[in-house]
Amino acid sequence: MMMAGFCEPHNGRSVTRRTFLGMSLASGAALLTGKSDPIFGADSLTTPKMAMNTTFKLGGDLTVNRLGFGAMRVTGKGIWGWPPDRANALEVLRHAIELDVDLIDTADAYGPDTSELLIAEALHPYPKGLVIATKGGLTRPGPGEWVPDCRPDYLKQAVEGSLKRLRLERIDLYQLHAVDPKVPIEESVGALKQMQDAGKIRHIGLSNVDPGEIAKARKIVPIVSVQNRYNIDDRESENVLEYCEKENLGFLPWFPIGGGGGLKPENPLNTAATAHEVSVYQIALAWLLARSPVMLPIPGTSSLAHLEENVAAAKLKLTPEEWKAIDSLAG
Ligand SMILES: NC(=O)c1ccc[n+]([C@@H]2O[C@H](COP(=O)([O-])OP(=O)(O)OC[C@H]3O[C@@H](n4cnc5c(N)ncnc54)[C@H](OP(=O)(O)O)[C@@H]3O)[C@@H](O)[C@H]2O)c1
Repeated sequence: MMMAGFCEPHNGRSVTRRTFLGMSLASGAALLTGKSDPIFGADSLTTPKMAMNTTFKLGGDLTVNRLGFGAMRVTGKGIWGWPPDRANALEVLRHAIELDVDLIDTADAYGPDTSELLIAEALHPYPKGLVIATKGGLTRPGPGEWVPDCRPDYLKQAVEGSLKRLRLERIDLYQLHAVDPKVPIEESVGALKQMQDAGKIRHIGLSNVDPGEIAKARKIVPIVSVQNRYNIDDRESENVLEYCEKENLGFLPWFPIGGGGGLKPENPLNTAATAHEVSVYQIALAWLLARSPVMLPIPGTSSLAHLEENVAAAKLKLTPEEWKAIDSLAG
């Protein structure tokens, strides 16, 4: 079975961090600092609930800033091999940390191997508090191809490989990348539980799952997060997000800004972005962050400018009215 393919990068309008912050203030959005904000902001019958927390505790003990970084895009074309500009890829990873990103998502399948190897090359020895979330269970026969293999023995070997490439003794968050139709999820997560019991994994997460699969996995081992495709244009996983919110599991939306294909060209965010004088991607990220206190977007980029723009979006807090207007336009 082939999984979702990935398209070519698209170009967004460039806005510098300074310009963006200035414009956000001018547009009436509130900039929040510190880590002790209430979980939700406005809460009345006329305004939507909006997440205001800047951090989230993964598994109850790993506090991360909610805007993370997806390290899939630092590989080569088709998420295959080494990036064309390796020095730039290393710089993007280092700069993410400089910008206070402390959640990096990767997978053995990215490259394969090259994303994890680049993370270690750029960042090891790792700064205190950095959470590297990797994944296993998808193999890569070639560029753009993703084939599940979630047999227990394969997964255990995959965990060992990631530990070696990331130069870690224990992986903070190990996610089952997908459900293999040939292997019951209970058996796949059972293997991850064994690796957790052996001290090689701290917390276990899932990816590309539905609520029934999450419930089955949780009967075997505690699950702390779920990573599914989700963005303002694509809310197919709304029921999974609601499950995570109810159970306080982290929700890592992949394709948070639409992936390589971008957001729909006719997207009403264009109007909102123009009104706010920020990029459409920043509005999409701000919308996501406000959508739920368990939302942990991991936008991916190979560009320093886009990285800065994406991180700056976490500082933009839309007012309830602005959020509602954007939500109802795009929903
Ligand atoms: N669990 C899964 O099955 C799964 C599947 C896919 C992805 N993921 C994870 O989720 C992360 C995010 O997904 P993604 O990277 O595919 O999609 P994304 O974050 O929605 O979008 C990334 C694309 O948008 C571009 N981009 C990024 N920031 C931009 C900006 N400010 N302005 C304009 N363009 C911008 C990037 O190109 P540039 O490089 O030119 O910036 C890249 O082509 C991945 O990195 C990966 O860690 C998981």
